[in-house]
Amino acid sequence: MKKVIVPVRKLAGEIELPGDKSISHRALMLTSLADGESEIYNLSACQDVKSTAQCLRELGIKIEMANNRCVVQGKGLVGLNQPDKVLDAGNSGTTMRLLSGILAGQEFPSCITGDESLRRRPMRRIIEPLRAMGAVISGRNDNFAPLCIEKGALKGIEHKLKIASAQVKSSILLAGLFAEGETIVDEPALSRDHTERMLDFLGAEIVAKKRRVVVKSFPRLRAKKIIVPGDISSAAFFLAAAAIVPDSEIRLKNVGMNPSRTGILDVLKMMGKNVRIENFKITNNEEMADLIMTSHKLKGVEIGGALIPRVIDEIPIIAILATQAEGETVIRDAVELRVKETDRIRSVVENLKKMGAQVQELPDGLVIQGSQKLKGTKIDSFGDHRIAMSFAVAGLVAEGETEILGAECADISHPSFFVQLEKIYA
Ligand code: S3P
Repeated sequence: MKKVIVPVRKLAGEIELPGDKSISHRALMLTSLADGESEIYNLSACQDVKSTAQCLRELGIKIEMANNRCVVQGKGLVGLNQPDKVLDAGNSGTTMRLLSGILAGQEFPSCITGDESLRRRPMRRIIEPLRAMGAVISGRNDNFAPLCIEKGALKGIEHKLKIASAQVKSSILLAGLFAEGETIVDEPALSRDHTERMLDFLGAEIVAKKRRVVVKSFPRLRAKKIIVPGDISSAAFFLAAAAIVPDSEIRLKNVGMNPSRTGILDVLKMMGKNVRIENFKITNNEEMADLIMTSHKLKGVEIGGALIPRVIDEIPIIAILATQAEGETVIRDAVELRVKETDRIRSVVENLKKMGAQVQELPDGLVIQGSQKLKGTKIDSFGDHRIAMSFAVAGLVAEGETEILGAECADISHPSFFVQLEKIYA
């Protein structure tokens, strides 16, 4: 599907974002392991979360969705059944990596695969620690899906992550629920901590201090009601759009404000724009608030270090912001972008060059020149949802028409993205 974006004079209105994708995955997986019926409100209806729900159904969990309410019949920590086919994580790295941790603790063998993009993404980062815990796990070239997983006698380990990754951290912690003794994960910088918070909320014994998490095994997880906050990674596209389209003012309601995810607000502040925050509240161990955004003159920034895991999914849209800011923006320490749904450094650089922007590719990031008039052109999403949405936002301030090819991939994280974008065209 192709989407044509035309320049817009201003943006105005109110948006309720889909439920946070990362929290939605965890809500489904962890309530499946809890005792009894849990209710989840505002679960993301995106493709990735549907992949998680489908895998859990294959594992014998009853999940019903109606309107904005999802009901999960949890079967307790050891209640999953052996699936009668290979599990399919689709495009979702979170589904594959987190579920692998859970599968490593089951009494039955299972296999999990994904689409072409996911089968190219590195899995050694979970294979090695899960093996060290005692799981019998194999993958293509010892690094890629399909993965086949069998339980061994799991023992808790102490694992130091070389690169901050919530997916790897969570995979190990989830296997740790089924392991003898304690499981400890240390990170070089804090990545999103939704797994730790939800495990704690459901009654597991887990202590997270600074960058070290300790989880005890065989907890009894309690069924609960969970309200999923709006996805701040989806909000980022609208924040950016309102920042760069002159005379805009939008309100984004009930956006997740977990500090391990709010790096985009820090970046906007560094660029010169404070986002207004209202109605702050905490539900089920997660913060949320309304964000009010108006257009603003931005300046170039340098981003790197511990900020990177807190903006890892927002870097493509930050690159678009940078083209409209005054001065140069340098993004470093983001080599992880090369192993996302696409090599996002390459995808951003190629498409920005097509729009006439001055941009330089670095091994671990990019340098973007500001104050640029972008030219509308044909943009390839490369099947990557965040590339499609970032360049749709670029199209709002480009000269002429911008065609986003393969725009349907926005469904991976935000099925209503284009409808919501049109809704705020003033
Ligand atoms: C996610 C963690 C991040 C992020 C991904 C979702 C999660 O990946 O990029 O979109 O839900 O845990 P890494 O933690 O592997 O960097």
